[in-house]
Amino acid sequence: MSTARHLIALLRTHVQGDDTEFLSVAMELAAREARIGHARVAEQIRELVDQARARSSQIEKRGGSVVVMQPKGEIANLLSVQQPTIRLASMVLPDALELRLRRTLLEQRQKSKLRHHNLRARRKLLFVGPPGTGKTLTAAALAGELQLPLFTILLEGVITKFMGETAAKLRMIFQAMTVEKGIYLFDEFDALGARRAQANDVGEIRRVLNSFLQLLEKDDSDSIIIAATNHVDLLDRALFRRFDDVIEYALPDERTAVKIIESRLTQFHADDVDWQRISSDVAGLSQSELARASDEAAKNAILQGTNRIATNDLLIALNERKHAAC
Ligand SMILES: Nc1ncnc2c1ncn2[C@@H]1O[C@H](COP(=O)(O)OP(=O)(O)OP(=O)(O)O)[C@@H](O)[C@H]1O
Ligand SMILES: [Mg+2]
Repeated sequence: MSTARHLIALLRTHVQGDDTEFLSVAMELAAREARIGHARVAEQIRELVDQARARSSQIEKRGGSVVVMQPKGEIANLLSVQQPTIRLASMVLPDALELRLRRTLLEQRQKSKLRHHNLRARRKLLFVGPPGTGKTLTAAALAGELQLPLFTILLEGVITKFMGETAAKLRMIFQAMTVEKGIYLFDEFDALGARRAQANDVGEIRRVLNSFLQLLEKDDSDSIIIAATNHVDLLDRALFRRFDDVIEYALPDERTAVKIIESRLTQFHADDVDWQRISSDVAGLSQSELARASDEAAKNAILQGTNRIATNDLLIALNERKHAAC
C-alpha cells in the first residue's frame, strides 16, 4: 500500500470507529516507512501507536494490581489470557539458559534505545524440549517480569476442519498482537507445525503452515511471540529461521534436580534430608516430576503433623514418579 492509501485506510477506520483496525493500519504504515528508509518517521508512528495502546489498553492498573480484561467476541475462542506474577528468579535454570532469557528481558526493557539505532529487541522465540522442562512456565515468567498479559492461543479453537478458516483465525490472532501488546504463546505448537508431515490433507496443512510462516515473518508488532514444542524433529525446518531465538530445554542434571526439590521445599525443614541419596535417584525425571515428588513429600510431612521432610518420603515419591513416567 502507498502512503496515500494508508491515509485513506486510516480515515476510513477512523470514520467507522474501528480503533483496532486503525492502529493496525498505523503499524502497517510504520513498517512501510521503515522499509523505504524513513526510520525516524517509522519510530514516531510506533511511539504514537504505543501511547494510544497504553491509553486504550484493556489492562488497567488499579490499586497496584493488574486487572486483565478477557478477550471478547470471536477472538475469545482463540485466546485465553492471564496475568502471571511468577518471576524468572523463582525458576531453577541452568546458567546458559538463564542468560539467554535475561538477554530477551534486557532487550525488551531497553527496546526504545535499540530502536534509536534501528535495531529491534528479540521477540520471536521458539522453545523446544521434552515435556515438563519448563517451557510454559518460562512464558509465564517472562510475562511476570515484563508485566505483560500472557495470551495462550487455544489451538483447538484455531485448527478447524476447514483450513481456509484456520488461516483466517491465525490472521485474527496476529492482528490482535498488533493491537493488544502481550506475550502470545503458541503452546504445543507442533499441532500446527507438525501436521504438515502427516499423510492426510498434506496440501491443506502446508497452506496453513505457510500462512503461519508468512504471518510470523510479516509481524511487526511489539508483542512477544513464543512457540513451544516437545517435538522439534516434527517441525518444519523452515520455521527455525523465522525466530529470533531457538531456546532448548532439557531434563535437569543431578545438581539442578536437587535445587528444584530444595526450592520447592523452602517452607519446610529439609536440613536432615540425605541429599546424596536423593541426588542418586533423580536421573530421568523432569523438572515437573521433581516438583510433584517434592509436593508429595511435603504433603506427607503435613499430614504427619510436622514440617520436617523425611528422606524416605522423598525417595518414595521420586520412585513413584519414575514409575508413572514409564
Ligand atoms: N526450571 C524450573 N524450575 C522450577 N520448577 C520448574 C521448572 N521447570 C518446570 N518446573 C515445574 O514443572 C511444571 C511444569 O512445567 P511446564 O509446564 O513449564 O513444562 P513444559 O516444558 O511446558 O511441558 P510440556 O512440554 O509438557 O508442555 C511447572 O509448573 C513447575 O512446577
Ligand atoms: Mg507446556
